[in-house]
Amino acid sequence: MSTVPSVHPPRLRRRRLAGLRVLVTGGSSGVGRALALALANRGGRVLAAARRADRLASLAEEAPAGSIIVEAGDVTNADFRARLCGVAAERLGGLDICASVAGSGAVGPFRDASAETLDRIMAVNFLAPADLVRRCLPLLEVAADPAIVLVGSILGHHPLPWHGEYCAAKAALRSLATTLRIELAPRNIDVLLASLGPTESEFWEGLVAGRRASWSRGRQMPATQAAAAIVAGLECRRREILPGWRAKGYALAARFAPGIVDAITARRLSGVPPGRQSPAP
Ligand SMILES: NC(=O)c1ccc[n+]([C@@H]2O[C@H](COP(=O)([O-])OP(=O)(O)OC[C@H]3O[C@@H](n4cnc5c(N)ncnc54)[C@H](OP(=O)(O)O)[C@@H]3O)[C@@H](O)[C@H]2O)c1
Repeated sequence: MSTVPSVHPPRLRRRRLAGLRVLVTGGSSGVGRALALALANRGGRVLAAARRADRLASLAEEAPAGSIIVEAGDVTNADFRARLCGVAAERLGGLDICASVAGSGAVGPFRDASAETLDRIMAVNFLAPADLVRRCLPLLEVAADPAIVLVGSILGHHPLPWHGEYCAAKAALRSLATTLRIELAPRNIDVLLASLGPTESEFWEGLVAGRRASWSRGRQMPATQAAAAIVAGLECRRREILPGWRAKGYALAARFAPGIVDAITARRLSGVPPGRQSPAP
């Protein structure tokens, strides 16, 4: 083993993942589960959180022995978020990475949706991650090479009809990522926004309201691949990632030809009877 110190300051080097202490929300399925496993397999020590305790227990069993500890609860509950910080401090001895992955969607015309749907979607996709990050900052500020990961969506770049609440929440998360990146740079805390495209997971089974529209179906990226992109983004200190060509293509089209994107989605919607909240799958 070399004893010669590196000439590069830590922030110019690739991030070393081995030994990092990581909080991952949404650890019971999909991208969060895959991310927790990927980081544990790279030598990280992970605190995984979600509501389903049985799923978290099977995650901990699948990971290298002792690499993942779990905490079951609802991330939209402020007491639970406080508990997660306490568990990270006590059982991991601190926190190097806060990865907010938990999220849910809702489908249907905004005019017909309930106020409760708006509250729940904003809570899980924006308010909870925002507050969790703030609560984690005292731990991250004393870590050697800290980072925040926010899992957003390409729909935070440009919205789709029938996903109004979700798109607004992910756009707010994207905005917050930019603010945090600038504010936290002097404290050497990296902020990585992962704007995912269609991804294989339990997302469509866990909708807060409505059902998946037939026109939104298509090929999806495996959750393990999305998680691998997040891990690579952390290692390379990326600011934002758009895993896969579908995500990149949508973001590009939305940036340079938003009118065409809107016209295509409006044409797809035109076959659906007005006021029908749950289009046939
Ligand atoms: N799948 C896609 O096509 C896609 C596309 C773009 C962005 N995303 C984003 O990717 C992230 C991960 O989603 P996924 O695709 O992996 O879906 P998923 O399989 O449904 O995973 C969502 C995770 O969030 C957790 N969760 C949801 N509500 C929670 C709550 N109130 N408290 C605690 N945990 C909660 C779920 O666990 P419990 O149910 O056990 O609580 C689950 O572990 C989300 O932020 C989603 O918005 C997904």
